Order: sequence, then C-alpha cells, then structure tokens
Amino acid sequence: MATFLDGADPHAITTAADALRAGELVAFPTETVYGLGADALNDRAVAQVFAVKNRPHFDPLIVHLPNQASARVYATGIDYRATVLMERFWPGPLTLVLRKKPLIPDLVTAGLDSVALRVPAHPIALALLRATGKPIAAPSANPFGYVSPTTAMHVQELLGDKIKLIIEGGPCQVGVESTVCLLTDKDAVILRPGGVTIEEIESVIGHVEVATTQVDARSPGTLPRHYSPHVVLQLLPLDAPIPHPQPSERVGLVLFAARPVGPGYTVVEHLSKRGDFVEAAANLFAALRRMDGLGVDRVVIESVPEHGLGRAIMDRLRRAAARS
Ligand code: TXA
Ligand code: MG
Repeated sequence: MATFLDGADPHAITTAADALRAGELVAFPTETVYGLGADALNDRAVAQVFAVKNRPHFDPLIVHLPNQASARVYATGIDYRATVLMERFWPGPLTLVLRKKPLIPDLVTAGLDSVALRVPAHPIALALLRATGKPIAAPSANPFGYVSPTTAMHVQELLGDKIKLIIEGGPCQVGVESTVCLLTDKDAVILRPGGVTIEEIESVIGHVEVATTQVDARSPGTLPRHYSPHVVLQLLPLDAPIPHPQPSERVGLVLFAARPVGPGYTVVEHLSKRGDFVEAAANLFAALRRMDGLGVDRVVIESVPEHGLGRAIMDRLRRAAARS
C-alpha cells in the first residue's frame, strides 16, 4: 500500500518534492487525470516510471512545468503559434510537442527530437512543481493500456503495491487527458484530442490538422486499444436504438444523457443526465472502472456527438472498446 499525502497540507508537498528530488516516484492529481511523476532529468527515476506502468519504451512522456517561462529551458523553436497557445491555455489541459533541447533525457522522449510540455492547472500539481524545482515527467498513473485514474483511490488500487506516495487531491475536474498538439511541423497537428477542444485551438491559431487514424506515426502513444477496462465494451453508433439483452446475460449500460431504457440491464449509468460534455468527461473513466467491478458479461455504451469535448470522449471510448 502506498501512503496518501493530503495535498492541502504544505508539509505533504515538501515531503513529496523531497521524494521526487531523491529520484522516487510520486503520484499526484492534475486537472485531467492523476499522474505518476518522476524527476524528468533523472534517467533512473524515469526508467522506474516505464517499469511501474509496464509501458513500452517507444511511448514518450509528457514533461510538466510550473510556468510558461520554463518551456524555453527545455524546448526550442517556440514560434508565434506556440506562444499564443501557451498564453491562452496554460495552465491547463493542453500539451505542446516542440523541438527538444539536449537537456531532456532521450528516455523521456523515446529518442524523438521533440518533447511534450504542459503546465497543469491543478493547484496541487503546481505547488509540487514549484517545490520540486524540476520538470516532472508524468504519464497517467495506471498500468499501460488500462483506464486512467481520476481519484487517488484509483491510483492506490492500480499501483499502490508499486509506489510509495500518492498525493490526495480529490476527483479530477476535467477527467480526460490533455490535448496533445504537435507544433514542430509547418502545420499544427492534433495528436490526441483532450481537455482543450479543437474548436478552442482553432479559434486561436486557425486551421489545425487532426491525426484521424487510430495509429499515427507521429504519435507513438496512440494505440488502437487503450484506456480499456477488462470487461468487453460494446460501443453503439450515435443515436442507435438501445439493444435488449438476453434474459440469461448480465449486461451494464452506460448512457451519455438521460433517455428511456427497456428492462434487462443489470446496471444503468449516465455520464451526464443533462447531456453535458464537461460533466460526461469528468465521469467517464470512473464509470468505466465501476462497470469493470460489477462482474457483468459485457457493457453497452452509447456514442456521443463528435464536437467539442465529445471528440476526446469518443477517442477514449473507441480505444477502450477495441479488442486488440
Ligand atoms: O493530461 C495528461 O496529459 C496526463 C496528465 C498526468 O498530465 N498525462 C498523460 O500522459 O496523459 P500519457 O503518458 O498517458 O500520455 C502522453 C501522450 C502519449 O500519447 C504520448 O505518445 C504523447 O503524449 N507524447 C509524449 N511525447 C511526445 C512526443 N515527443 N511526440 C509525440 N507524442 C508525444
Ligand atoms: Mg495514459
């Protein structure tokens, strides 16, 4: 079992910062999901992150920073687009992929010549970054491929036997990971839809390309199967009628918004009864985890419209439902 530290306690932040500087791992809250943090400049600590998550070494990590100014320490080629995006969306759920400076270990970036940077908006994450005085490499604090954690208890259940410290900071407000935007090419490319919507990004820098395929070479972490519970997930097409389970089956149903459902489902959950994307995203991963704990034969899940945060939700649902 890992020790919970209360993120509201300044002593707890000092303890966690000391541990990070000593090369240990600390799980901490961000506004998107809980991260598994390591000193990004310490190769051995970063190697531990890959080991604990069972993460393949080809999948690079996001480096978290306390402020916009520190981006220039670790990246070059910060152009006008990068600057306006940082000004508009940092701190917040936007990760920018920029040309890396040699200071960042190759292990962090999986040997790429780019580095992913983000300033998180969670006050505890920011306090930890300031107290540590180092960039923190942090993937989501879950075993590779599984549903991401949005509470400290999720982290305890998933990785509690492998790490020593978890900072408790309540449920994550955004609930899906940051949007990953590549800025090293001439055209900006969205590699992963997330907490900042594509519409919001386009309102600042104009048209962006969206990596649409399930696997994009520029985005090593986007595997067809990801964010997946163990139970079989069946994703319904948008506005499809809800099927009727066989009486012999135990089936869970996850609805986006409130709508009439016939009998036969063991459990019915709503991501947001009023059909609100923000609320749905915040509930998404916890709902998938609850469904995984029910011992049902399968889970039917409704699609959501693909605009705004709906894109990030559908990206996660498609990957969660993929079988291999
Ligand atoms: O919201 C988030 O971003 C959370 C919290 C903890 O900050 N972190 C997170 O990390 O989702 P992770 O490791 O689960 O996802 C990182 C994503 C992967 O898809 C990875 O391939 C991509 O960022 N990435 C990182 N560095 C990259 C690079 N240099 N080029 C392209 N993609 C990169
Ligand atoms: Mg992840």
